[in-house]
Amino acid sequence: MTVREQIAQLGVLPVVVIDDAADASPLAEALLAGGVNAAEITMRTAAGRDAIAAVAKACPQMMVGAGTVLNADAAEAAVAAGSRFIVSPGLDPDVAAVCQSHGVDYLPGVVTPTEITKAVSMGLTWLKFFPASNFGGAKTIKALAAPFTMVRFMPTGGVSPDNLEEYLKLSCIFACGASYLAERSLIKEGNWAEITERCRRAVEKVKSVRG
Ligand code: 3PG
Repeated sequence: MTVREQIAQLGVLPVVVIDDAADASPLAEALLAGGVNAAEITMRTAAGRDAIAAVAKACPQMMVGAGTVLNADAAEAAVAAGSRFIVSPGLDPDVAAVCQSHGVDYLPGVVTPTEITKAVSMGLTWLKFFPASNFGGAKTIKALAAPFTMVRFMPTGGVSPDNLEEYLKLSCIFACGASYLAERSLIKEGNWAEITERCRRAVEKVKSVRG
């Protein structure tokens, strides 16, 4: 199974903003305890890269990827740190090229039909829809999926326990990206139990929606 297929099987992907790389391993353990074996650690903080490296080393059973990858240098750094997939808020051909050269899955962010057309022409069909709630959420994804039958979407941005089900019900959605699963403040507080509980509930929801 490819990494993206494993994320699809999981159905949810925590988007992690981490301030201290020392929190990375306990965070990974908390996610795993809640049944979540993948995480997107964003490169938007100074600790992001070290956190990816720490999880890749200490928790091989956790599929760690990098988020907020905005250029080729960041993509190279993320892959060198042990990222098994790369996520961007937008679509960047240079990042795509780095991912392709390393055989790492790239999940670029798109919103419009033109952006999706561009991604598909680059051979990318597993796409992040971002920021999902601002651009019409599940309703928009459903409309986009009609012509783009080859695309699978990962809505991110505004995903919450209240709308998780609405997204997961759509067969064109392979997973939902969400920061609430490992909220920044919970990581800072070291509230691992709450993170585990949020993950556990989300995994349960995936199972109940998908049957
Ligand atoms: C991100 O920070 O990359 C996403 O916007 C996460 O969105 P959320 O905080 O609404 O889950």
